[in-house]
This record gives sequence, C-alpha cells and structure tokens, in this order.
Amino acid sequence: MKLSSTLLSLASLALATALPKNPSVPRSTSSFSSTSGLQFTIDGTTGYFAGTNSYWIGFLTDDADVDLVMSDLKSSGLKILRVWGFNDVTTKPSDGTVWYQLHENGQSTINTGADGLQRLDYVVSSAEQHDIKLIINFVNYWTDYGGMSAYVSAYGGSTETDFYNSTTMQAAYQNYIKAVVSRYSNSSAVFAWELANEPRCQGCDTSVLYDWIEQTSKYIKSLDSEHLVCIGDEGFGLDTDSDGSYPYTYGEGLNFTKNLGIETIDFATLHLYPDSWGTSDDWGNGWITAHGAACEAVGKPCLLEEYGVTSNHCSVEAPWQQTALNTTGVSGDLFWQYGDDLSTGESPNDGNTIYYGTSDYTCLVTDHVAAIDNA
Ligand SMILES: *[C@@H]1O[C@H](CO)[C@@H](O)[C@H](O)[C@H]1NC(C)=O
Ligand SMILES: *[C@@H]1O[C@H](CO)[C@@H](O)[C@H](O)[C@H]1NC(C)=O
Ligand SMILES: *[C@@H]1O[C@H](CO)[C@@H](O)[C@H](O)[C@H]1NC(C)=O
Ligand SMILES: *[C@@H]1O[C@H](CO)[C@@H](O)[C@H](O)[C@H]1NC(C)=O
Repeated sequence: MKLSSTLLSLASLALATALPKNPSVPRSTSSFSSTSGLQFTIDGTTGYFAGTNSYWIGFLTDDADVDLVMSDLKSSGLKILRVWGFNDVTTKPSDGTVWYQLHENGQSTINTGADGLQRLDYVVSSAEQHDIKLIINFVNYWTDYGGMSAYVSAYGGSTETDFYNSTTMQAAYQNYIKAVVSRYSNSSAVFAWELANEPRCQGCDTSVLYDWIEQTSKYIKSLDSEHLVCIGDEGFGLDTDSDGSYPYTYGEGLNFTKNLGIETIDFATLHLYPDSWGTSDDWGNGWITAHGAACEAVGKPCLLEEYGVTSNHCSVEAPWQQTALNTTGVSGDLFWQYGDDLSTGESPNDGNTIYYGTSDYTCLVTDHVAAIDNA
C-alpha cells in the first residue's frame, strides 16, 4: 500500500516519557513457520491462516500499545501480522522520533538505539509472547518511511529504480538486512523475511527485478536458512488466466511465475486494490483464483498479503476472503489494515482500516476466522 502523506504523522510523534530498556528477545524452542506443499505450517498446524497489516506498530513508543494490539490479534484468532521492518530517513530526526536507518552523503547509519531498532525488538518480543507470527520487510518501493528514494538520494541516481542494480545501494541494503535478520534469526515469531513493500520497476525488462530478487533472497538465506523468504510484490505480470487488465501485464517489470520459480523464494505474495487499479471489486475474485492456479503450477503457496477498499468493507471484502479460502494454492490472507484504539487515540485511518470491535471487524475477522476453523 502506498500511504498518503497525511498518514505519516505517526513517524514524527514525539517519544512519550521514559524509553524502555533494551528489551531482550527471548529465544523460543518451538519450530519455525514453514510451507508444506501449497500450504503454510504454523506451530505444527498446516492449513489456511488469517492475518493483517500494521505498518506503524514498530514506530510506536509505548510498549503497552504494542501489547494491546498483539493481545487483540491473538484473541481474534489472527495469526500473521505484516509490519514495516524499515524506517529510512535522509536527515536525522530530532530526538524522540523513531527512525531505523539514516542515508546521507553516500553513507548509511543504522539506529540500534531506543528510538531505533529497539522499537522493532519490542514488537518481536511481544509477538513471541502472544503467538503472533510476523512478516518483516526491509525497504519500501514508495517514498513513505524513506523507501528506495532515500538510498538514491544518498548514493546518487536519477530514479528509485536505480536502487535495484546499483552496487553501492545494494551493499547498504544488504548491510541493513544483515542487521535486522541477525537480531531475530532465532525467533519463532518471524513468519517470513520480505524483500520490499510492493517493488516495481516500470518499463524495465523483467530480468532487472528477477536478478535483484534472486540475489537478495539468496543473501537472506545465507544469513538465515531456517525462516521463509518472500518478495512482497503485488502479484503483477501473469499471462495465465489474464483478462488483459493492467495488473496482469508486465509493465511494472514483474513476472509472477518466473519470480516464484526462484529457489530461495518460498511463497508468493499478491495484493488487491481495485480502486487503485481501475478494475471492479468483483474482478478481485478472478485475480485471486488466477494466482492460486499459478501457485499450484509452481508448487508453492500464495498469500493474499494486502487487500482493501475505502467503503463497503464487509460486502466487498468478505467474498474475496471466501474465494481465497476455497482456492487451492492460496493459504492465507492479510487484510489492509488493522485498526485499534491506542493510548494516543485511534491508529491511522486510510479509509481501508478495519477497527477492532466494530461491525466490519465482526464480518471480516470474527466470521472469517470461524469460516477458516470450519473449513
Ligand atoms: C542465535 O542462536 C545461535 C546458536 O544458538 C547463537 O550463536 C546466536 O548468538 C543467537 N543469536 C541471537 C540473535 O540470539
Ligand atoms: C540498471 O537497470 C536499468 C534498467 O532499469 C538500466 O537502464 C541501467 O543501465 C542498469 N544499470 C546497471 C549499472 O546495470
Ligand atoms: C514469464 O515467466 C514465465 C515462466 O518463466 C515464462 O514462461 C513467460 O514467458 C514469461 N512471460 C514474460 C512476458 O516474460
Ligand atoms: C468460493 O467462494 C465464492 C465466494 O467468493 C463462492 O461464490 C463459491 O461458491 C465458493 N466455492 C466453493 C466451492 O465453496
């Protein structure tokens, strides 16, 4: 999801009162999440899992808010939470603003302090305590929270897509990956490492992203061979079952089937935003089944990793959930995005947000989790 600028205010929230001490991330002895054919296996259970997205949870400064979200997810039966594992800046923010990595004058500096990766440490440790599994990504294609543009501005280049094949930018990116992966490589709370949020390379030959995906996923596996690795792309570029609409085309530089064939990519991701893509809501059902078939052909599961609309949440999204649940090759879905009542007020609302405790939540979480349990 690309965020509108009004949603970024959380990044600049001042740190409230005392900062937590460096929270230790307890080691768990339970086995890591894995794939089993076309399905996911979590804590010994193989099947279909529901979850959600919270890009902001690692930027919260109050541990109690993090625990509240994890506790509400757990009691709802949501199992997978996708979070932003990046927060790139090009100027060091004033004290009290959370940032993870600074890119300036051809150099990158990782913030492991109390207003840096220690905030992500707390998310991981709270997830461990609440049996929630995390997808953690490393960079944004969009400029929200820095993105590839932050690297480009520090290292030189004309567009964000120069990121993919620049030796210096890739070295900085891999250095960041190493810092994050080595922090949590023993944690059973990690569901998967993810290369980026919605990587695109418009007008590029599909080899540019393919090569970058192969190189990066191999690198992650060399650091941590145990956890799953995925791309985080939107699922663009698929000619089987294509109706010729924009998302099926190769214009954004992605070939879904080819990328999924990479040995070090464990499962596929797809997103679904008819409002942004100029397609109908109902079109989403075919988008899901087309990817399920492609995943089945390759022999790896698909995760419907983001989906949203800004109105009629229940009537539009519930059929997508049913389709995902009854499509072979699709083993989970994560709605965009989770909402809760934090100590600072309501978490960000981009119109897609499904708030805990609302009737939309009953429809898209309580009822969906019950349908999964009865499937
Ligand atoms: C992970 O476990 C290995 C082996 O027990 C250990 O050497 C390493 O320090 C641990 N890493 C972290 C981040 O705890
Ligand atoms: C990087 O890829 C772009 C295409 O997106 C190409 O124009 C450029 O020449 C490539 N640069 C290098 C260093 O390979
Ligand atoms: C996409 O990748 C598949 C599998 O490698 C290949 O058969 C197909 O020709 C590719 N399509 C395009 C347009 O590159
Ligand atoms: C799968 O879900 C869709 C709802 O999107 C429904 O129309 C269809 O009948 C379902 N198929 C089966 C076999 O349950």
